Amino acid sequence: MTRKMILDLDTGIDDALALAYALGSEEVDLIGVTGTYGNVLVETGVRNTLAILELFGRTDIPVFAGPGHASAKDSFEVLEISEFIHGKNGVGEAELPTPQRVVETKSAVDFLVESVEQYGDELVIVPTGPSTTIAAAAKVSDTFADKAHIVMMGGALTVPGNVSPWAEANVNQDPEATDAIFRRLKDITMIGLDVTLQTLLTVDETAKWEALGTPGGDFLAAATNYYIDAYKTTAPHLGGCGLHDPLAVGVAIDPSLVDTIAINLKVDTEGETRGRTIGDETRLNEEEKTAKVAVGVDKQRFLAEFMRRLTDLAAEAR
Ligand code: BDR
Ligand code: CA
Repeated sequence: MTRKMILDLDTGIDDALALAYALGSEEVDLIGVTGTYGNVLVETGVRNTLAILELFGRTDIPVFAGPGHASAKDSFEVLEISEFIHGKNGVGEAELPTPQRVVETKSAVDFLVESVEQYGDELVIVPTGPSTTIAAAAKVSDTFADKAHIVMMGGALTVPGNVSPWAEANVNQDPEATDAIFRRLKDITMIGLDVTLQTLLTVDETAKWEALGTPGGDFLAAATNYYIDAYKTTAPHLGGCGLHDPLAVGVAIDPSLVDTIAINLKVDTEGETRGRTIGDETRLNEEEKTAKVAVGVDKQRFLAEFMRRLTDLAAEAR
């Protein structure tokens, strides 16, 4: 059975791997990709998405642009740490030919709202960047807020953040937006650092892509090797790079990859814990829980699925 999916990406390296995971999954009908800012400017992310879709021969999938910055701000600049981890071009300086296609004229917000209206439960949305676009869709459409099924990469419940002791990078970009969707949406699965830092890739795996001798394999290996190198500096204790965004796609396809707890979530928006994802004490005793947080992951099974899907996809991109 296939499930319709929309990815909302700030196309850096692990977003690119998440896109490849979706493209390599026969259970997924990817109906569109929306672009957000974060690892890169929204324009760069959209360009990367268009180029990667072309590389893998999927020019049938439309790409839409979302807002370029948090709603509480009037601009956005890429953080130094993002550039260090993902490179200036967002894909570890790996070369991607200029895409032939351009972004759609419809906005990402309109596309998300219309897709939920049209497909309801058949559709899952996987955001792997800041929550700005998803929050904007929920603000303009009650149908979206009531009916959207979201599996998002972001946050950290049982472990520290990665940009501050409390905040994870995606939530940190727009804490108000993530807080708004935690309070308003009815079905969010949070794939945070609790589990994504348990799913690691090393050069042993990227060597398999290199060995394919295809443009797809060369691209995935070059981008991911850059990412693995950055992790040697930012998190040397891990011994690999975190497969943050691909895990969210993996769980959207197969929820049994993770163990979750049911919870009503909020985000701290004030003070030194700004950006922290935590249980909302005011909704602790409510019967209905609107979120699930992944706290355990079958890492061997996920890694095997990840490698099978991406290697098969890259083998075909000649
Ligand atoms: C998240 O932040 C971004 O840098 C990655 O693409 C991922 O979505 C990890 O904290
Ligand atoms: Ca991302």
